[in-house]
Amino acid sequence: MGARIARVSKENFDEADMQSLLEGGRLLREGKTVIFPTETVYGLGANALSPDAAQKIYKAKGRPSDNPLIVHISKLEMLEEIAKDVSEEAHILMENFWPGPLTIILSKKDIVPNETTAGLDTVAVRMPSHKVALKLIEIAGVPIAAPSANISGRPSITSSKYALEEMSDRVDMIILSEDCEIGIESTVVDATGDIALVLRPGKISQREIFEAIAGGDSQKLKLMNSRLAEILTSKEAGAKAVSDDIFDMEKHAPKSPGMKYRHYSPKARVIVAKPPENVSELLAKHIEMKDDSGNSLYKSGEIKVFCLSGSAQGYGDYAYSLGSSSMDLAKNLFTSLRKMDDMGVKLIICECFGKDELACAVMNRLIKASSNI
Ligand code: TXA
Ligand code: MG
Repeated sequence: MGARIARVSKENFDEADMQSLLEGGRLLREGKTVIFPTETVYGLGANALSPDAAQKIYKAKGRPSDNPLIVHISKLEMLEEIAKDVSEEAHILMENFWPGPLTIILSKKDIVPNETTAGLDTVAVRMPSHKVALKLIEIAGVPIAAPSANISGRPSITSSKYALEEMSDRVDMIILSEDCEIGIESTVVDATGDIALVLRPGKISQREIFEAIAGGDSQKLKLMNSRLAEILTSKEAGAKAVSDDIFDMEKHAPKSPGMKYRHYSPKARVIVAKPPENVSELLAKHIEMKDDSGNSLYKSGEIKVFCLSGSAQGYGDYAYSLGSSSMDLAKNLFTSLRKMDDMGVKLIICECFGKDELACAVMNRLIKASSNI
């Protein structure tokens, strides 16, 4: 049976929008699954406090059961229900970044079932800023567990087209809206240790997190930075955090359980040019490649170069521009990966975008999607 489909604009809710949100909220309360938009990516939601409902999420996505879910809330009262021993630092992060693209790992209360947290004694919590998401959670009246709404291992979903194509027979309802504004998933920060550590990079950076916590106290900032450096260089503790060096992420295997799985993968092979590797040379090499019978390995149109608009000209017909800024890169990344599959592209060669923290967060996804490390 296919999902009930609704379209709700995030601008103003009219009568029909409210009806859809009420229906979504009712389904969630009844333990059903509802896909909904957030400012980062689409989420596949169910009641976070119901073991059966949480299990439906794993089934719908084909997700390994040891990968915990993010619990979404619409107001701080919901946080009190599910988390305990919330530190002052965590409160500062909430004040500064909620509602918004930050997920905070906290100690969990017993009410949160093991099915939601994959047996961990911590829970990942986020208050999204998307109006549709907030209203839906408010109407549901329960915290909503929601991973990204893609089939496990595939690129996340940021537009209605792919939510419909991929998930229509897998959930009870899909609420569609405008394309997700940020385009990559939230930053995941662990607030249970001695410093707030980013486990998955996103729009909000480790630097912004430290700056918010330090609140202008330069000594405190310095201490946190030197503790971070210590963690990143110590092999054992380094396993908890994401390294600054974008090509080093696999070495510093992060603590977020989900990070160990293959991720974000389109059908095409993805190769990220690792500096000083030259993208044009890599491209030329692959254009020349032959199969065993001496035919070209890639037909015309089967190779694309992911690039910034500024360098597109250099790759001619092979160029596929993701835009001109880091914000564009983030916003267009997942849809572009999926478009390559639609276009029958077999090889994506990707420029190394590492100019700022958001571009590095995009690289984190591309490197995970790629097969060259
Ligand atoms: O932007 C987002 O975060 C989106 C939207 C829907 O909110 N959600 C999302 O969920 O990206 P998901 O399941 O695709 O990624 C959640 C990440 C995984 O890497 C998971 O392992 C980690 O958060 N995570 C969840 N609970 C955790 C916990 N208790 N401790 C450490 N990591 C946790
Ligand atoms: Mg995901």
